[in-house]
Parts: sequence; C-alpha cells; structure tokens
Amino acid sequence: MSNSLIYYVASTVRSMCRAGPNLLLTDDEEFIRKMNGVRSAYAKSEWYKALKMDGNHENILSETDYNEHLNLRNKLAGGYAGINNPNFEPRMDSVLWDVVNLIKSKYISRGSELKPYDHSALMQYFTLDVVTYLSLGKPFGYVSQDRDIYAYVQTMWENFPVMNFMLAYPPVVRFLSIPVIQKFTAPSMKARTGIGKIKSVAFDIVSQRFSDEQSLTDTKSTKHNNDMMDNFIKAGLNESQIADNTLAQFLAGADTTVAVLRASFVHIMANPQVYKRLQAECDAVSKEVPYDQIINYSRAAQMPYLDACIKEAIRYYPPATGLLPRVVPKGGDSYNGKYLPPGTVVGLAQWNFTRKNKVYGEDCEVFRPERWLEASPEQLARMEKSHELLFMTGRHRCLGERIARMELYKMIFELLRRFDFSSLNPLKPIDKSVNYGIWFERGMWLRVEERELVAEKTHG
Ligand code: HEM
Repeated sequence: MSNSLIYYVASTVRSMCRAGPNLLLTDDEEFIRKMNGVRSAYAKSEWYKALKMDGNHENILSETDYNEHLNLRNKLAGGYAGINNPNFEPRMDSVLWDVVNLIKSKYISRGSELKPYDHSALMQYFTLDVVTYLSLGKPFGYVSQDRDIYAYVQTMWENFPVMNFMLAYPPVVRFLSIPVIQKFTAPSMKARTGIGKIKSVAFDIVSQRFSDEQSLTDTKSTKHNNDMMDNFIKAGLNESQIADNTLAQFLAGADTTVAVLRASFVHIMANPQVYKRLQAECDAVSKEVPYDQIINYSRAAQMPYLDACIKEAIRYYPPATGLLPRVVPKGGDSYNGKYLPPGTVVGLAQWNFTRKNKVYGEDCEVFRPERWLEASPEQLARMEKSHELLFMTGRHRCLGERIARMELYKMIFELLRRFDFSSLNPLKPIDKSVNYGIWFERGMWLRVEERELVAEKTHG
C-alpha cells in the first residue's frame, strides 16, 4: 500500500480504520505505544519476513517471534550504544572528512566553471561507509571511491519494488519464507553485485575477525578492535548472525538517515530565512570549533536552530514509514469499546501523526523549524512525544537512533559552515523520488561554492 494512500485513508477516516480484510490502520499514538510496550504481547506480523536476508536464520528486522526478537535485540544493544567503543565518533569523523575533502577536490564550482554535485549519491555513500566502518571496523570506501561499490544502490532500486510487493501480500511472503524456497530467493553470496555481494564481503570480514579472535584467545593477547563487532561477539552472536545483522543495518540505518540528509538540504535551500539563520548559527559555533576539526556530537546537539531544523526535517519527511504491522495477541484486544480478534494485523499510519495540527499547529503542512523554538513548554512536550514515534518506542525503539543523530548533526553543521549550496533544478530538486516505506531517491544536483572568506575572517 502506498504511503499517500495510507495517509489518505488514515487522515480521512479516524484514528483506527479498516484497510483490508484482516488489516487495521492506526495513528493513535497511545495505542501504538501500548503495542510496543515491553510487556505487550503484540508481536511483529509476517510483513517483516520479506526483510529476511538468509534462508537459515532471521535478522533483527525479520525476526517476528516475540522472545527471539527480544533476545537478539539485547545482544545487539551494547554494540549500537557504543559501549566500550572509544572509536565510535572518531570513525564517523574520518568518513565525514572524506566527504569534505571529496567536495573540495572535485565539486567546487567557481564563476562559469560549473561542477555539478549529486548530494543524493554522496550522502548515501556517507551513510553506507559509516554503517560499515562502525559495524565491521572498516568502511567499504563508497566515499573515497565516489561510486556505487558492488552496485548496492542500483540493486536496491531494482529489487525494492518487488520486496515492497511482497510486504503487501502476506501469502507471497509466507510462500517465500519456506526455508527450501528461501534458499533460492535470499541474496546469494555468489553474486558479483548487489546485496549478495555485500553479504559475502561482510561475511569475509567477520570470518577474518573470528579467526583473529581465536588466535588472540590462543595467545592470550588483549588486543581489541573496539567496534560494534567486538560487542556482538562478546554478546554471543555467531559469524553469520553478525554478517546478516550488518546487512540489516544497510536498510535500517543507511537508507533511512540519508533521506533526512536529502530532505533537510532541499528544505533549507528552499527557505532563505532558514538557510541564513542556520548558517549564522554554524558560523557562530565555528568560533569555538576550528576548521581543522569535526564538531563533537555533544556540542552540535546543543545548537538550538540546527536541532529544530533536523527535527522538522524528520517530521516533515519521515524516513521509515512502512506499515510496521503488529498482530493482536491471543485472547484479542479492544479499541474504543470495539473487539479486535486475535490475529488481526494493525499497521501504523506514520505519515498521519507527523502532520497533526492539534500537535504541530495549524501550519503543520509546511516546513518551519521555528515551531520547535516557539512552542509553549506544554506544546513542545506534546510535539516531542509524538516525534519520538518516528524512531518508535519500547522494545521496537530504533537501535541506531544515536548513530543517526550523530551523522545528521555533524554533517549538516560541517557542510554549511564550509560551503554554500544551491539547487541546479529548483523546480525539481530531486530527479526521482519514490517511497516504499523508505525513500528511494536519486539525482539531487547542486552547485557548491567554498566559503573561503568566512573561514579566513574567523580563523585567519
Ligand atoms: C533518521 C534515521 C532513522 C530513523 C527515522 C529510524 C527509524 C526506525 C524505526 C521507526 C524503527 C522501528 C521499526 C519497527 O517498528 O519495526 C527502527 C528500528 C531499527 N533501526 Fe532505525 N532509524 C534510523 C536510523 C537508524 C540507523 C542509523 C541504524 C543503524 C546504524 C538503525 C538501526 C535500526 C535497527 C537495528 C532497528 C531494529 C530494532 C528492533 O527491531 O529491535 N536505524 N528504526
């Protein structure tokens, strides 16, 4: 079901409505929180099975069994939180430096000398390198090579419409989930490109680490890589579980965060007052953060207008808007006095709760970061509570939220204080944009100019 249809159905009917023979849609925030609650017996529906990447076992996205999901989640949580991992932020910074240096060396336009820069592609390469660096201990090198290594992006464009179709038709998912069928349909590690190839590269890195760990144990050495994989190994995950869950991160982490990096730039560039105010805030903070450094996340997160712009971009253009359906547990449930039989599937109408005028104000249909700064304490608390759902809550809360926020705050700050951006096609800022629950977008062509004068004035 398309997002526009979900939005239409949910917004024109009521907080819970029927959308199919066994499917309800809801934008009722309290009900969603209840379904996600740690003690709630609501499980994920078969819809998630389409996200399985391996015939033999589940990953964190595809696992629908209540206990197994919780168990896997507990094992992954330490790695995502960066526990015992001092490399977390420096590694992200090094990929960010690659971005800054690439723009400087290849994409700076001067006068009539135009060097078109595709923000959509480069931001996607950034999020892919961050995911691989943080989880596997080395980036795949998307940014440094400035290209779609192993044709991951291209393959996703080709395959996701099929996956999206499967997501919508449980019988198809059920059929494809039969282990013997899945052996043929899951991405093959023999593939030369696409998800299968990425999986085999990830698997090789993980296997290497396991044999290193083995030799380390043998020699009683204390060397550690201090990365997510270290945490996952200590938590008891095996090689293929780690490789598989890294692949899940591509989908859950890279393709979501990049949507915000595109959307924020589209809207910042389209609103000169926003652009000016945000850049002024970045310039002011640059007085404390020299240009040969990347800002710390803890400092960037304290920038009120940057924070407002990022919240507004996530609200206005939510990056993960699939149905994310749950199943009514044994014994059934009720909603506003109406009985919900066990097995009923309840999908979330996320588009709708990001555009509620009772929460976000009468102008909720426009991009206006100021709403986050002007709201009364009560209204702000209400907005924050609603916004939280875009990363989900309870035992389904996004494990990578902190990573995503670090990427967003750091990247937007560093780009805006160093460069000026304008769209080469303001009438159609992104050539192609489709939503399959996550955004698939390509061709966001910009002109970039270096802001040398500002840098010299401040630090010269
Ligand atoms: C702006 C960026 C992001 C948004 C809006 C977002 C949103 C979400 C949402 C809504 C869910 C819940 C899905 C469900 O209910 O089944 C989720 C789960 C998840 N996210 Fe994110 N996410 C983002 C970035 C990331 C990043 C960067 C990573 C990893 C590096 C990540 C990893 C995960 C994982 C592993 C889960 C599954 C958690 C579980 O099922 O227990 N996400 N995310």
